[in-house]
Amino acid sequence: MSRKLKIAIVDDEPDMRESISQWLVLSGFDTETFVSAEDALKTIGADWPGIVVSDIRMPGMDGIAFLKRLMGLDSGLPVILITGHGDVPMAVEAMRIGAMDFMEKPFNPDKMTALAKKATQMRRMTLDNRALRRDLSEGQQVMSKLIGTSPVMDRLREDILDLGQADGHVLIDGETGTGKTLVAHALHAVGPRASRKFVPVSCAAYNDEALSARLFGPLEDGIPAVEEARGGTLCLEDIEALSEPLQARLLAFISDQGIPADTRIIAISNARGEGRRAEDSLRPDLFYRLSALKITLPPLRARGEDILSLFARMTEQFSEEYGCEPPQVSAQEAAQLLQAPWPGNIRQLINVAERAVLQNRRGSGSIASLLMADGDDNQQATTTEGKPLKEYVESFEKMLIDNTMRRHKGSIASVMDELCLPRRTLNEKMAKYGLQRGDYL
Ligand SMILES: Nc1ncnc2c1ncn2[C@@H]1O[C@H](COP(=O)(O)OP(=O)(O)OP(=O)(O)O)[C@@H](O)[C@H]1O
Ligand SMILES: [Mg+2]
Repeated sequence: MSRKLKIAIVDDEPDMRESISQWLVLSGFDTETFVSAEDALKTIGADWPGIVVSDIRMPGMDGIAFLKRLMGLDSGLPVILITGHGDVPMAVEAMRIGAMDFMEKPFNPDKMTALAKKATQMRRMTLDNRALRRDLSEGQQVMSKLIGTSPVMDRLREDILDLGQADGHVLIDGETGTGKTLVAHALHAVGPRASRKFVPVSCAAYNDEALSARLFGPLEDGIPAVEEARGGTLCLEDIEALSEPLQARLLAFISDQGIPADTRIIAISNARGEGRRAEDSLRPDLFYRLSALKITLPPLRARGEDILSLFARMTEQFSEEYGCEPPQVSAQEAAQLLQAPWPGNIRQLINVAERAVLQNRRGSGSIASLLMADGDDNQQATTTEGKPLKEYVESFEKMLIDNTMRRHKGSIASVMDELCLPRRTLNEKMAKYGLQRGDYL
């Protein structure tokens, strides 16, 4: 935030209004004058970039009522009240309501300058902190959507935090449904551009001419994407659909920007799903610029450890949504989930989880049939692709302990009994799988 803060001066007496304003302008402040509280309230709201100096005695809404309204809108707004002679009880009341300070008429110019300075400094700090907190919480919100405790997911989270802060354009690739779009949003939300725009454009959704206009203009209505995203993030989905002439224009746009780039480009490639690579469809100089930083999202079938925990989290969420119990996954079903090829990756898993919950509510159907229905027609529900036995066993063990802990609401003794495990072994396994008793209480 670099814009200069304003001082709103609210007073029904023109002489007073003007003299305070003149003095403050001479002292280097920006002022805005209002003839009444009602008038000022048309302009001043929450997060208003400035402070308020107001008379107490005014026709219509008086200074105290005005102060109450302002505190209701934004309790962090510094308000300085001007009181007449002998208004001490009123001034005390004003301080109790939340005024920053008060000054007696006739006003003392030096005191006014000192107070205005202190108030604007306070205001700047409040607004900066609010902006920071907002950025942070948006980032945290997006990050919290990323489920999974596998080392792959942990590394992905770290990568997002690192690359979110770094300069340079980013290329994200991975099969369909692996989370590319989600990760692009997360990269924007955790970085310094979070308060600026995130502008997604699908390169595959337009013909060449329309895409050119959407990206670079001219447009009949609306702003071209490169303008809209200035200072923020331009997210180009399906980057390999970009024609050669448009690749050249994009390259020129990128080259014209300074370093660090004003606008970050996140290019998303779907080529990997079709067995190709982004570099096969892009001119090398563009590819080189766009892939300064790169994130490759692994297919779900390669993240055995995450399949069951994602499935559990998703069924839990849908059960809450539909107001029913989450389905219990049998050993056989767990094996099927682990062995499925998941061509649609996390998106497919979310679909299967939702349908499993609905099925369970009806009391019919099996998870295997859902996997069959969802998979490719000529693909079996189970894949022949081998995974080490250890991985199956561990995912299953983790799921079993997780389910049992949940059912017994974190009672270690009951879980020991049901699974016939000594306490030490149970503790060791929980530590190994990152399960915490506190999460089940
Ligand atoms: N790690 C994750 N944890 C939880 N949900 C996830 C995760 N990754 C992705 N998702 C969810 O999976 C779905 C698919 O993700 P997303 O749309 O980002 O995939 P994509 O790779 O962009 O797919 P496409 O190539 O089809 O555009 C979304 O609903 C997303 O929220
Ligand atoms: Mg996507």
